[in-house]
Amino acid sequence: MKYYFAPMEGITLYPLRNAHRAMFGENIDKYYTPFLTAHYNFKFKKREKKDALPENIDHKAFSNYTDQIVPQIMSNIVETFVWAAREMADLGYNEVNLNLGCPAATVTNSGKGSGLLRDTDYLNEFLGGIFDQLREDDISISIKTRLGFSDENESEELMKIYARYPAKELTIHARVREDFYKGPLRLDAFDRAVRIYRECGGAAAICYNGDITSSSIGGAILDEEKVDKNIMNEADHNNDTLNKLKSLNSFNEISAIMIGRGLLSNPALSRELSGGPKLTALELKTYLQKLYEGYENYIPEERNVIFKLLEHWAFLDSHFADSEKYIKAIRKSRSKGEYFAAVNNIFSSCDFI
Ligand SMILES: Cc1cc2nc3c(=O)[nH]c(=O)nc-3n(C[C@H](O)[C@H](O)[C@H](O)COP(=O)(O)O)c2cc1C
Repeated sequence: MKYYFAPMEGITLYPLRNAHRAMFGENIDKYYTPFLTAHYNFKFKKREKKDALPENIDHKAFSNYTDQIVPQIMSNIVETFVWAAREMADLGYNEVNLNLGCPAATVTNSGKGSGLLRDTDYLNEFLGGIFDQLREDDISISIKTRLGFSDENESEELMKIYARYPAKELTIHARVREDFYKGPLRLDAFDRAVRIYRECGGAAAICYNGDITSSSIGGAILDEEKVDKNIMNEADHNNDTLNKLKSLNSFNEISAIMIGRGLLSNPALSRELSGGPKLTALELKTYLQKLYEGYENYIPEERNVIFKLLEHWAFLDSHFADSEKYIKAIRKSRSKGEYFAAVNNIFSSCDFI
């Protein structure tokens, strides 16, 4: 089984990808960038383009970034998608991923992300356009989708459409847009969707996504900062997803599992799932140090570097027993000195779970 690090806006940027790859990358086959919007004026935002530039990749960690990193594109216009894919090909990438899953209203209202799932005629036309125009280019297209917009039965038509085009890989998040990232997974519908996709001749590799986590996810520490606590907490309701997945008829069709929140909570999760050793306290401490260093070069103000790290801490409290007051101190830190004092304190005072 292959494991992928899911794209997560604002989180899986190059400082994280570099730090994670250097320490835990052995068991991750691909890292996805958060989505880059292909704007109508054929320009990327500077910040988004920066995330894909090869000069920001740790080439010691990524010996073959062209296959190990996949830029994700957000677009609903053939011409802008094709332009963006070619820009990424020029940077050396061998694959781009089309975002058909983002549930945010600002995205879906403009007919992008999972908003594209609502109008299947247009989706079909759009896919026809991009696969046709990029047919002779040196770049593969993969797709990340959901089972539908508001109803899982929409997946039947969606799979029939996907099956018509030569996607390299089809990642399916086992929910519909209206679930966002919460609530029970729709594994039966996922199973059916994969069957229909194959019956219709769909040949892409299948990647599963949703709630793969071996331990409960943190999230209690951040409520007033930038993080959406509801989203952050949702992956912990279902620790046996993997077992349920294994019982599906379609399990044999799944060649990869994409993990998001589970890897934020436990950066060694893919190693553990591959039968390797459990995360140690020292590893986590070193990883957090590396993340800090990476973000320090990425974000100018110290305070904002700390806020970025707090987004990570939102997933990490479950590793520490009786940690409430120590977590609070981390949350309250406003300088690098305060932050590291609080982090050292939690590691020296709490049992590591
Ligand atoms: C904060 C956050 C940001 C995300 N950003 C993206 C994104 O840029 N592109 C995308 O396709 N999915 C995005 N996702 C969805 C994840 O890639 C993944 O599908 C989702 O977290 C479910 O997987 P998990 O249960 O393993 O976390 C995001 C999810 C979260 C919580």
